[in-house]
Amino acid sequence: MKINLANIKKAQKLLNKGECVAIPTETVYGLAANAYSDKACKKIYKLKKRPQNNPLIVHYLNNQILKRDCSFNNDFLKLYKIFCPGPITFILNLKKNSKISKIVTNRKKTLAVRFPKHPVTRNLLKNLNFPLAAPSANLSSKVSAVNSADVKDDFGKKVKYILEGGKSSIGLESTIIDIRNKPKILRLGGLEISTIEKALNKKIITRNNPQKISSPGQLKLHYSPGIPIRLNVKKINKGEAYLSIKNMRKKKPNFYFLSKNGNLNEAAKNLYSILRKIKKNKHKSIAVGKIPNKGLGRTINDRLKRASKF
Ligand code: TXA
Ligand code: MG
Repeated sequence: MKINLANIKKAQKLLNKGECVAIPTETVYGLAANAYSDKACKKIYKLKKRPQNNPLIVHYLNNQILKRDCSFNNDFLKLYKIFCPGPITFILNLKKNSKISKIVTNRKKTLAVRFPKHPVTRNLLKNLNFPLAAPSANLSSKVSAVNSADVKDDFGKKVKYILEGGKSSIGLESTIIDIRNKPKILRLGGLEISTIEKALNKKIITRNNPQKISSPGQLKLHYSPGIPIRLNVKKINKGEAYLSIKNMRKKKPNFYFLSKNGNLNEAAKNLYSILRKIKKNKHKSIAVGKIPNKGLGRTINDRLKRASKF
């Protein structure tokens, strides 16, 4: 994708003034603000209608800059070298003299940090004197945004500027790992756990439990298109949209598919757009066929399961 420097300048100016700007990342779009400013970060919560006790992820250009705010260990460095920039978020200890706003952390002593790969956002970060706090750019509890039109649908003119970056190449949020002691996965995401295990050469605990207050996605309902979802469906009910992993080659107006031939990466990339499309087409509910629980299929199933608690 060609980088438009004028657009980046515009985003930079607004962020410097303490405004919120939507930014593209390879996972999903983020709603960004200066992570060192209370006032700027408060705007994120207000726009998203996000509960204040749900802390934000902070986006850095590299680990040299991160050093000012967080301490980290060898496991972090191992994963950083292999996967960053990329779809992985680390829970780290905040340094006492860190400048991160208390609004970002909800006064926790830890910080969620990520190094996005999208070239537009990397260029933006290079031009800023602060890291960017950015949750996914969607209304709280709803489906994440994977292109600028999705962000516009959710926020209209309330977001001052959307930095264009095309469609997110992964389409699912980052994998969150608490790396401080024994590595623990807190949220499945765009980077597969088995890949992380291989890199660390150890087994990783998975605590992907949405009921637990200390882990991500505390809200009971998450990633929801706003209509009921049934999973592992064999028989479709009248009036339902049917969503399958691959093209069933049935020309029915209520049939949707995530990928042509069942490719899970392609399915991940399409998931949120198709959920939004089904809602827009006014179907009242969604029946989802079986999706293989391997690779990114695990993350897709996790998101659909949380979205089904309607
Ligand atoms: O791919 C992504 O991670 C995207 C892009 C924009 O970077 N961001 C994203 O942010 O998904 P958000 O806010 O929608 O989800 C972040 C999750 C939340 O569920 C939050 O509870 C959790 O991370 N979180 C943030 N700080 C934390 C911390 N210190 N400890 C544990 N969980 C934390
Ligand atoms: Mg989110």
